[in-house]
Amino acid sequence: MHTLVLNSQKGGAGKTTSSWNIAAAAADAGLSVLMLDLDPQQSLRHWWDRREATEPQMLGEDPAVSELPDIVEAAGQQFDLLIIDTPPAADGWVVDVMRVSNRVIIPVRASGVDLDALGATLDLAERAKAQHRFLITQADTRSTIYRDTLFTLTDLGKVIPSPLPRRTSHERDFMTGTSGIDSSGLARNDVRSLWRRIQEDINGKATSKPLKSRKAGAKLG
Ligand SMILES: Nc1ncnc2c1ncn2[C@@H]1O[C@H](COP(=O)(O)OP(=O)(O)OP(=O)(O)O)[C@@H](O)[C@H]1O
Ligand SMILES: [Mg+2]
Repeated sequence: MHTLVLNSQKGGAGKTTSSWNIAAAAADAGLSVLMLDLDPQQSLRHWWDRREATEPQMLGEDPAVSELPDIVEAAGQQFDLLIIDTPPAADGWVVDVMRVSNRVIIPVRASGVDLDALGATLDLAERAKAQHRFLITQADTRSTIYRDTLFTLTDLGKVIPSPLPRRTSHERDFMTGTSGIDSSGLARNDVRSLWRRIQEDINGKATSKPLKSRKAGAKLG
């Protein structure tokens, strides 16, 4: 199992939207995916509560950070991919979450303000000794600011080559528990391509399993 932690200390960077889209795209590709929502606001869970499809899965309730190592170990017996959403402006405990990850994905909007705020997130990833990847979100990929952001981030670390461009469907999806992968528009290709790039990055050969039909809340062990 691979574990991805979505974190950015900047609010609204796209952590939650990216979490459900990566999870849904990985599930669509045949992986068994578990999501944890460690943000007290529980936006990811509220998205999932509205979702009809059985994958990706969540637990009946989200664990405390202290329970995380055990949860990760148990999930490893059942799932191919674990995706953990985290809150902004969290203090040091996020370091412990990052420590259980294979990759920390840092969503960044293509904006000067977001780039300026990156230092706090990078400090946490460094303290966790976690491998991090930048994911540009909510961008118009034809804009100059997108190119400037890509250029700046490339200097700071590795950037996932597929961004999550701005699409209004992502804003609507929260209300219906759907994702880019469920759409017939451009978002579908965006999200597929994003998952493919992450998969290539984490191992190039992620395993594929048939989808399971469980929605009530996954049980571990
Ligand atoms: N690719 C996108 N296209 C259009 N809108 C987007 C996209 N990604 C995110 N959004 C919108 O931007 C806002 C912030 O996104 P999201 O909630 O995912 O960020 P977050 O980092 O999880 O926020 P928080 O820090 O509050 O947890 C939401 O209104 C969401 O609908
Ligand atoms: Mg969020």
